Amino acid sequence: MNGKIGVIAGDGIGPEIVAEARKVLDRVGTVFGHRFSYTDILMGGCSIDATGVPLTDEAIAAAKESDAVLMGSIGGNTSTSPWYKLPPKLRPEAGLLKLRSSLNLFANLRPAYLYGELRAACPLRDDIIGDGFDMMIMRELTGGLYFGRRETVEKDGVITAVDTLTYSETEIRRIAKRGFDIAMKRRKKVTSVDKANVLDSSRLWRKIVEEVAKNYPEVTCEHMLVDNCAMQLVKDPKQFDVILTENMFGDILSDEASMVTGSIGMLASASLNDTKFGLYEPSGGSAPDIAGKGIANPIATILRAAMMLRYTFDLDREAAAVEAAVQQVLKEGYRTIDIMPRPGESTEGITEVGTAAMGDRIAERTG
Ligand code: IPM
Ligand code: MG
Repeated sequence: MNGKIGVIAGDGIGPEIVAEARKVLDRVGTVFGHRFSYTDILMGGCSIDATGVPLTDEAIAAAKESDAVLMGSIGGNTSTSPWYKLPPKLRPEAGLLKLRSSLNLFANLRPAYLYGELRAACPLRDDIIGDGFDMMIMRELTGGLYFGRRETVEKDGVITAVDTLTYSETEIRRIAKRGFDIAMKRRKKVTSVDKANVLDSSRLWRKIVEEVAKNYPEVTCEHMLVDNCAMQLVKDPKQFDVILTENMFGDILSDEASMVTGSIGMLASASLNDTKFGLYEPSGGSAPDIAGKGIANPIATILRAAMMLRYTFDLDREAAAVEAAVQQVLKEGYRTIDIMPRPGESTEGITEVGTAAMGDRIAERTG
């Protein structure tokens, strides 16, 4: 198979972590007999520096011509970087939002899974962790507050800012279907998260999710308010299988879910539309504080390369081989600094490694 992969290395730790994912993909190519070609695409701060805008039309066209796009990370320090002195539409994140909407990537999958080997890095108590947990966050990605009308106006000397949260039943129905479809392949439970005690958009969300649920009699569907969900994620994360939610709630809850798995450096993410195309993007930021130090965790990037193999290229065996290699390396005790045992936990059999060494070890064990 020949795969055309667009690569957005981006800013901060992006280029370092993407290099490790490419190592692993190249290894998959060698072992399983595939060819992957890569096209670099500029997005984020590096694109602002080179072109004046965070995403050019050429970059969008290059993404559209690819089978899939693998992304490192974008953005910088929001208090000190000059990129954040620019008008909002010209900042790094605006590039990502434009790419998501230009390619209609409405379904964002964020699997949060606690590897048994990482129990010691999980901030939760042992009795809460139990046998571990495995959930999939299905976040709506092209609607809601992120794309609603917004403005800042001054009237009679008082400044007022407005953001609007809009959802149509069509947008809700298509993401809900995705959520239920994925639940059918998992433990057949959907927790739909909203704020239906306050918001109209959430009341519509709940009504449409209930309609969709009728077509999936095997799937248990429950509704949970977002504030309660934030609490339940640390109180009893085992209860979740698929969390189905709107854009902003999904943004917040996925960071929280990543932390209970040990680190945001472990959380992969895939943004999909109605075709096989996918943008395999990070859930976290560009970590400018550690950029260039060679200590960033490349595992989330490698795991999203595995998601790419599975969802875009239908290479399930290859994806499983990459995931198994990640597990093996963790079993052998290799850890980047973010997933080292918490202070006070035993470090016996644990070796701290940097970004490239982690990538090498995973690549060597793939296949
Ligand atoms: C994420 C990120 C983005 C988002 C930012 C960088 C715009 O936080 O993917 O979760 O809010 O969607
Ligand atoms: Mg986020």
